[in-house]
Amino acid sequence: MMQMDSYRINHARVGRAFSSSAVSYDEHAVLQREIGDRLLAHITCSNIAPSRILDVGSGTGYFTHLLHQHYKKADVTAVDIAQAMLYYARAKRRIRMPWHGMRHYAAADACALPFADASFDLVCSNLALQWVARPALMLTEMRRVLAPDGLMVFSTFGRRTLCELRHALAHIERDQGGLIVPFPDVMAMGNALAELPIEVPVVDSDLFTLTYPNTMALVRELKGLGASSSAIEGRPAGLYGRRLLRELTTYYETHYAASDGRIHATFEALYAQAWFKEAPFSIDIPIHVHG
Ligand SMILES: C[S@@+](CC[C@H](N)C(=O)[O-])C[C@H]1O[C@@H](n2cnc3c(N)ncnc32)[C@H](O)[C@@H]1O
Repeated sequence: MMQMDSYRINHARVGRAFSSSAVSYDEHAVLQREIGDRLLAHITCSNIAPSRILDVGSGTGYFTHLLHQHYKKADVTAVDIAQAMLYYARAKRRIRMPWHGMRHYAAADACALPFADASFDLVCSNLALQWVARPALMLTEMRRVLAPDGLMVFSTFGRRTLCELRHALAHIERDQGGLIVPFPDVMAMGNALAELPIEVPVVDSDLFTLTYPNTMALVRELKGLGASSSAIEGRPAGLYGRRLLRELTTYYETHYAASDGRIHATFEALYAQAWFKEAPFSIDIPIHVHG
């Protein structure tokens, strides 16, 4: 079973990779929006009426906007490690809607949130957890800033994501499978949640198969999304060199092409939600021993 705390991801590099893809992100993020829509449905089923909402790893702001549209009176805070993502999200939101609550933007690391304990009624994150070196720490932070009776909800990509690409890279050169960030499995996520003082964690998943005209289209999409292998410690930037791309294309298109010639790629989305639970308190009852 994969440990939730074992990733070799460099947060500064993640921030740079996503900053440099801020402009191209929306063009490629069709699946990310679909998963965001489904995550919102998980929240709206819960009947919560939050007035302070936090969106962690907010990117170009699609999910932040969904939250604001649904909870019009709420103050929504968007946090991201990539400054350019935040600038872009803010620039997209030019029209002021005075009947809406406030929207705030903060550049910060999800593992060190710059907010006081119990600051938000709803703490969300759509597809950021897989980019964090210590996912359990990010979840602890999300729980820390959650107010009593609040809800935390997030999605991440699961272990089966890009399994074809991982197999192809591992086949070409032994350790190249490590070019893709390790995604958590449902069990690991459930275990990490079970460590937190929260109530009834619910974990759910969806499997998507996307098709592309060729391998380069898949690689281009991953780059456009900022999904860079350079975020992994010890990996140089731009590792998809010409030789690797040639071999990858041959292997991928031999093994993962449909009869129409398009290649396919698997993506697994994991969703989780849990309510705030006060830490169990203990009462010291003096015990008298009569001898
Ligand atoms: C796949 S994008 C998702 C963006 C957005 N939530 C959406 O639904 O489109 C992941 C986002 O998480 C941010 N991110 C990654 N690691 C982070 C960290 N340690 N702290 C804060 N944000 C982080 C990235 O900069 C990026 O904007």
